[in-house]
Amino acid sequence: MAAPTADSASPADSTDPTNPADPTRPVLDCRGVWKTFGKGRDRTPVLRGIDLAVHEHEVVVLIGASGSGKSTLLRCVNLLERVDDGTIHLDGDDITDPRVNADAVRQRIGIVFQAFNLFPHLTVLDNITLAPRRVHRRARAEAEQAALDLLDRVGLAGKAREYPDRLSGGQQQRAAIVRALVNSPRLMLFDEVTSALDPELVGEVLALVSDLKGDGMTMVIATHEMGFARRVADRVCFLDRGVILEQGRPEQVLDNPAEPRTRQFLQRLLDTEPA
Ligand SMILES: Nc1ncnc2c1ncn2[C@@H]1O[C@H](COP(=O)(O)OP(=O)(O)OP(=O)(O)O)[C@@H](O)[C@H]1O
Ligand SMILES: [Mg+2]
Repeated sequence: MAAPTADSASPADSTDPTNPADPTRPVLDCRGVWKTFGKGRDRTPVLRGIDLAVHEHEVVVLIGASGSGKSTLLRCVNLLERVDDGTIHLDGDDITDPRVNADAVRQRIGIVFQAFNLFPHLTVLDNITLAPRRVHRRARAEAEQAALDLLDRVGLAGKAREYPDRLSGGQQQRAAIVRALVNSPRLMLFDEVTSALDPELVGEVLALVSDLKGDGMTMVIATHEMGFARRVADRVCFLDRGVILEQGRPEQVLDNPAEPRTRQFLQRLLDTEPA
């Protein structure tokens, strides 16, 4: 049984997620996704029937209190966690089918985390080309050219042969984003990609994500940066205890929320903002 969501008329309800002829078929289509952690009396449902359809070129921003399930949802989409119930379709393929090859799915989805997760013993270039060379069996020269082109685009061409500890946090995070982009993913997932950064480095990473939006990249972004959410989101989803309680245009959800819990969450953020 799925928990009710605020938007029961979501496009996910009316389309067939597997029909390639349907022009409204979303890139990502989560339906009735449940995830519970723990066993016995410690069982905690973290996602309680999430319905979320993300269309091509759409940018969906997930907001919500700590522990509301944002990271867990992104991790389920990237198959880092298995869902307990419900389905997730990527371009019409049911990626929650247990027979699916998770590595193959992950090549179609780029994910970037809060911690940059670069390998410290590899140069920036080797960090980026590791997966294309090993998993995709791309020739070294071809993989390196693709990586260098992307590094150039994000202003890091001069850092290709450096080790991560010689880069600032913002530069490391941009390199991590390039690593996720180098496979030309269909969908990018960002999980609090600026929360480990010094404030003066946040802007350069957010600018890069905004550029990707300009390129038409389809993205799902979990963030606590409401200003950023407002700028980049086509749709903001407010997660509350594992349910999408409210969703809509950023100005609607952030400025005029319908749900008291959304209002409470936004007010609390305002209260804790540095003066
Ligand atoms: N592997 C795990 N095992 C057990 N519990 C987990 C696991 N991963 C997440 N949880 C729990 O699931 C809940 C949701 O966590 P999640 O990380 O998805 O929240 P979040 O919305 O991303 O929070 P934050 O804003 O702090 O990043 C939390 O109560 C967390 O403790
Ligand atoms: Mg999180």
